[in-house]
Amino acid sequence: MGVHWFQHLNEEVGEVLIDSETIQRRVRELGAEITRDYQGKTPHLIGILKGASIFHADLVRAIDLGVSLDFMAVGSYGGSTKTSGEVRILKDLDESLEGKDVLVIEDILDTGLTLHYLLQNLESRGPKSLRVVALLNKPSRREIEVTADYVGFDIPDHFVIGYGLDFDQRYRNLPNISILKLGPAPAP
Ligand code: IMP
Ligand code: MG
Repeated sequence: MGVHWFQHLNEEVGEVLIDSETIQRRVRELGAEITRDYQGKTPHLIGILKGASIFHADLVRAIDLGVSLDFMAVGSYGGSTKTSGEVRILKDLDESLEGKDVLVIEDILDTGLTLHYLLQNLESRGPKSLRVVALLNKPSRREIEVTADYVGFDIPDHFVIGYGLDFDQRYRNLPNISILKLGPAPAP
């Protein structure tokens, strides 16, 4: 097509929902809370790729404790904006979770299907504890009972982009979280 993705910026990037200063302030608060809650422990912080990569990178630096890091990538069998409920592991963890205080770092909790699957899968690997940090939470979209232990922001039902979140792999590098102007493509 010969159109570079940033030429979509004006037509697809809508209103700023959470600006970068507000995100950074909240990330520092979450880091402080986790630091208090995990005193004397060495939490193992698992970033869920790719959406949580930016949040993970900022959050780990806001935690004033020894930590270890790992990453995992999961995908659903549905399309890019619809979750089918079937989740597959695209990249597994490098390390065992046996006896570790595991914190899963997610970008957004939407229907909850991805996290529900992930928690079952990770629980079976024998962590000492297992908790979840989600930057964003859309409570009105939940299809399955699952909650995060730490939530950055509850947001209304908008499709959002930026700060790691994508639409069709674009816009992950935007520093603010904005509302996508175009709705998700209708299911075929
Ligand atoms: P869930 O299984 O429906 O909870 O979906 C979780 C995944 O869907 C997230 O990790 C995101 O990758 C993606 N997702 C859900 N809502 C949004 C959104 O508003 N913007 C970008 N990605 C989203
Ligand atoms: Mg995504």
